[in-house]
Amino acid sequence: MIYLNGAWMPIEQAMIPVLDRGFIFGDGVYEVIPCYSGHPFRLREHLVRLQSSLDGVRIANPYSVERWDELVREIVAKNPMHDQYVYLQVTRGVAPRDHAFPKGVKPTVFMMTNPLVTPSPEQRERGVAAVTALDNRWLRCDIKSVSLLANCLLRQSAVDAGAAETVLLRDGMLTEGSASNIFVVKNGGIITPPKTNFILPGITYDVVIELARANRLPLQIRQVSEAEVRDADELWLTSSTKEVLSISMLDGKPVGHGTSAGKPGPVAARMHQLYQEYKRTVMRAPDNVQS
Ligand SMILES: Cc1ncc(COP(=O)(O)O)c(C=O)c1O
Repeated sequence: MIYLNGAWMPIEQAMIPVLDRGFIFGDGVYEVIPCYSGHPFRLREHLVRLQSSLDGVRIANPYSVERWDELVREIVAKNPMHDQYVYLQVTRGVAPRDHAFPKGVKPTVFMMTNPLVTPSPEQRERGVAAVTALDNRWLRCDIKSVSLLANCLLRQSAVDAGAAETVLLRDGMLTEGSASNIFVVKNGGIITPPKTNFILPGITYDVVIELARANRLPLQIRQVSEAEVRDADELWLTSSTKEVLSISMLDGKPVGHGTSAGKPGPVAARMHQLYQEYKRTVMRAPDNVQS
């Protein structure tokens, strides 16, 4: 069952008018919330980011945090699956086509849920290939906008090269992946770019930083140059669906040095383990936006 503007229905019955501004202009924002054994993961943080995306595009939040919390739990209850990700989208609504905002229009709210397929044991063991590309997206990558054409084109360039992700570089500096944040490891230290308008403030990115700090792993949040990306000992991508995944080949060259070149490294293995442990604690004591 999916949720559309206050009603529950099978996805095949869900319809939106062609003049929805999400369809016409990509005028909307979204969230992807992983749910493990029925428990939403970091729901509060996802809802905070939703609010900041809505603020960024000047759409009034149609629901309170408490209502969103209820809806996420309701969709999970209506679609019992072991692990799933809830996708929710808010667009500016339906109006005659005109770039300027329409007045008095109600946002369109859509939610669906799908099985969450995290990387396979084989992908974990071998890591994945990535390519680099010029980050040619707009300057508000901090907004989780449904206007994802640039991200789709960039991701396709990875697929065309037989790779899983595209690592983006802007003015010679690392930004993020086409649908992930990127971490570099050098001499045992973890390095990742700061949250700016050039990257999406990833929920997984925050968890990884918190875990690094809590476990006293050396961590620097600073600009990362293209040369540092290419000379990294380890390269990881992080996202709600991929969690922490090693990139073992970049532009056809092995990542890392010596005997571990082209293989996931020890810091990634440690972080993956910490992430799994953290997930288990959350499942034992589910968070609730009201708590
Ligand atoms: C462009 C981009 N950066 C980063 C991320 C990672 O964000 P999160 O960890 O919240 O899934 C995503 C997730 O889809 C993304 O699309």
